[in-house]
Amino acid sequence: MSKVFEPNREFSKNARIKNMCEFKEIGHEVDDDYEAYWDKLAKEKIDWFEPYNKVLDESDAPFYKWFIDGKLNVTHQCIGRHLKTRKNKAAIIWEGEDGSRRIITYLLLYYRVNRLANLLKNKFGIKKGDRVVLYMPMIPEAAFAMLACAKIGAIHSVVFGGFSAEALRDRIIDARAKLVITADGAYRRGTPYLLKPIVDTALESGCECCENVLVVKRNFEDIDMVEGRDHIYNDLIKHESQHCEAEVMDSEDPLFLLYTSGSTGKPKGVQHSSAGYILWAQYTMENVFDVKENDTFWCTADVGWITGHTYIVYGPLAMGATTIMYEGVPLYPDAGRWWNMIEELRINQFYTAPTAIRLLHKVGAEQPGKYDLSSLKVLGTVGEPINPDAWMWYYDVIGGGRCSIVDTWWQTETGGHMISPLPGATPIKPGSATFPLPGIKAEIIDEEGNPTPVGEKGLLCITKPWPSMIRTIWGDPERFKKSYFGDCKKDGKPVYFSGDGAMYDEDGYITITGRTDDVINVSGHRLGTAEVENVVAHDENVAEVAIVGKPDDIKGESLFAYIVTKTDIDVDSLKKVVNQLIVKDIGPIAKIDGLLLVPGLPKTRSGKVMRRLLRTIAKGEDITQDISTLEDPSIIIKIEKLFKGE
Ligand code: WTA
Repeated sequence: MSKVFEPNREFSKNARIKNMCEFKEIGHEVDDDYEAYWDKLAKEKIDWFEPYNKVLDESDAPFYKWFIDGKLNVTHQCIGRHLKTRKNKAAIIWEGEDGSRRIITYLLLYYRVNRLANLLKNKFGIKKGDRVVLYMPMIPEAAFAMLACAKIGAIHSVVFGGFSAEALRDRIIDARAKLVITADGAYRRGTPYLLKPIVDTALESGCECCENVLVVKRNFEDIDMVEGRDHIYNDLIKHESQHCEAEVMDSEDPLFLLYTSGSTGKPKGVQHSSAGYILWAQYTMENVFDVKENDTFWCTADVGWITGHTYIVYGPLAMGATTIMYEGVPLYPDAGRWWNMIEELRINQFYTAPTAIRLLHKVGAEQPGKYDLSSLKVLGTVGEPINPDAWMWYYDVIGGGRCSIVDTWWQTETGGHMISPLPGATPIKPGSATFPLPGIKAEIIDEEGNPTPVGEKGLLCITKPWPSMIRTIWGDPERFKKSYFGDCKKDGKPVYFSGDGAMYDEDGYITITGRTDDVINVSGHRLGTAEVENVVAHDENVAEVAIVGKPDDIKGESLFAYIVTKTDIDVDSLKKVVNQLIVKDIGPIAKIDGLLLVPGLPKTRSGKVMRRLLRTIAKGEDITQDISTLEDPSIIIKIEKLFKGE
C-alpha cells in the first residue's frame, strides 16, 4: 500500500476547501440535486449579461447544452469585470528566454485585446462565428489573439507551433479559417527560429478560405511578405481604438476549437462552449490550485495545448489571478532556469508535466538546492501518469515536503480538471489522481456500466454531462457520438468514455493506467498511432507499418515502429527517411525513437494487426496472450526474437 501524505495544516486553514468533511458535504449537495449545484456555481461565478432560463438541456443527448439562453462574453469574465477591482494588477507576466520581461496589467490587457479585436473586425472583416487559426510562439500576443477572438465572437483554433506546415494546412482547411495569426519567429535554446515560413508553405495549396495573415514581429527576422495577404501587427495595431464593445454571446456559442489526436487517422477539432467552459476553468483554478489574490501562478504548458488554454489564459484570468508565461525551454541556459524563475518571481503555484519533472531530476538534480523555492504552496502535474519516483522528488525536493501535489487528470475534451486532489483537503498518494472533483461523476466501469472491482483495470468514464465538456467534433457530429459515446453505457444510456484505463485502490483512490486505445502519450503530447502510421506508409521503402508506445524513462512513452520493407534499405537509413517524412507531415514531436525491421506483422485471419502483441514486445514483456487466432503465429515468435536481438 502506498504512503499517504496529509495536506499541510497551515495551508488548509486558509484553503477554499479545508478538509474531507467539507469535500464530502459538497458531494452530498451534488447528489441531492445535480442541476441545483451547477446552477448555484454558474450564478455565483459568472458575470452574466442576461440570465439563463434552464441549467441543462438533455433532450438531444449526447449534444448536451448548459445554461440555456444565458448571455455573456468570456472576455468580460476574464478582463472587463476585473477593471473595477484589479485594474493595475499584473494579469500576465511574460518572461522571454533571454530573460527580458513584460508585465501586462488588467487595464493594459483590456486595451491590447480591444485594439486587436477592432483590427480583426475592421481590417479583416472577422465576424462572430468565423474561425481564426493562431500559429504562435509563447508570447503575450498569443493570449491577446485568443481573447480578441473571444471579444468579437470569432472561434479561435490554436495550432501548436511545433506542428509542421502540412499539419497546419490540414487544420486551416478543416476549420475553413479566414485568417491566420502568427509571428515572424521566437527564441528556443538561445537561438531564433522562424514560424512565418511554415505558414507560407501551409498556405501554398488548398487554403483558399484563408484570406489574410497577421504577423507579430517578435524577433524582427527577415521574412517574406505576400503583398495584399500578409500584414504586420506591430504597425496596424497602433491605429486601432482601445475601446471595443464585447459581442453578446450565447452560453452555447463556440469559444474555440482545438485539434487533438484520436485513435483513427485525422485529428479531431474539439469544440468548446463559452459559459460552461469558462465556469469550470475558473472553478478549478480557484479550488484545485487554491490561488489567492496576491499569488503568482505558473503553468509551463504551451498555449497550443488545452493545458495552456485553460491554465495559462482562461482560468487564471477568469479568476483575476496573475499568470506567468515563459517563452523558452526548461534547460536554457541550464536545468536551474525554472527554479530560478520560481525564486525571482516568488511563484506560489507551479504546474507542469511529469516528463519535465523527470528530465529536470535526471539532468539537474543538484539545481533546486541553489534556489529559494519557499514561495511555493501547491505543485501540479498533468498530461500523463506520474511515476512514484518522480512524484517523491517533486514533493520532497521542489515542494520541500510542504506542498500538496495536485495530480490532475483531464483531457482536451473535458475542458478542465476532472479528477484531482484538493490541496487543502485531500490526503495524497504518489501516482494517484485521487478523487473526482465535486460535480464530476467520473467512474471506473466496464462497457455495461458495472463498477470495476478494487485493484482491477477498468474504463474511465464520465457518467453525467458536465458544463465544460466537448460539445462536438467540428463538422463531424457523428464522429463525436461514435468516438466518445459509442463504447460504454450506464443504466442503458451511453456515457462519455475517456479512452483511458484506471483502477481503484482499497480506499477508493483512482490511479490512471493509461490509454486503452491507439493513442500514445509522448512527453504528455497526445499522438494517434494511426496518424503517424499513415505518414510512414507513404515512404517508398515501406510495405507495412505498425507503431506502438514503448516505455521511456523521461518521455513516459516513445514511438516504436515495426516495419516490413519492400526495398533492401538498412535500419538506420530507413529511420532517417521515415523521421524526415514525419517531421514534414506532422512535426518533430511525432518522430519515432525505435525501429525494428520485421518479416511481417501479426494479423488476425480477418487481417487486423494485433497491436496489443506488438506493445507487449516493445515493453520487453513476455507474450502471455493467446496467439492461436493469428493468421501466422510463427510471425510473433520471429518478431520477439528480432526484438531481443537473438
Ligand atoms: C493523459 C491533457 C495520467 C490521459 C490535459 C488523457 C493523464 C490524456 C493525466 C489527455 C494524469 C492527462 N495522469 N494521465 N494526471 N492527465 N493524462 O487531451 O491519457 O492532451 O486521456 O489533455 O492525457 O491528453 P490531452
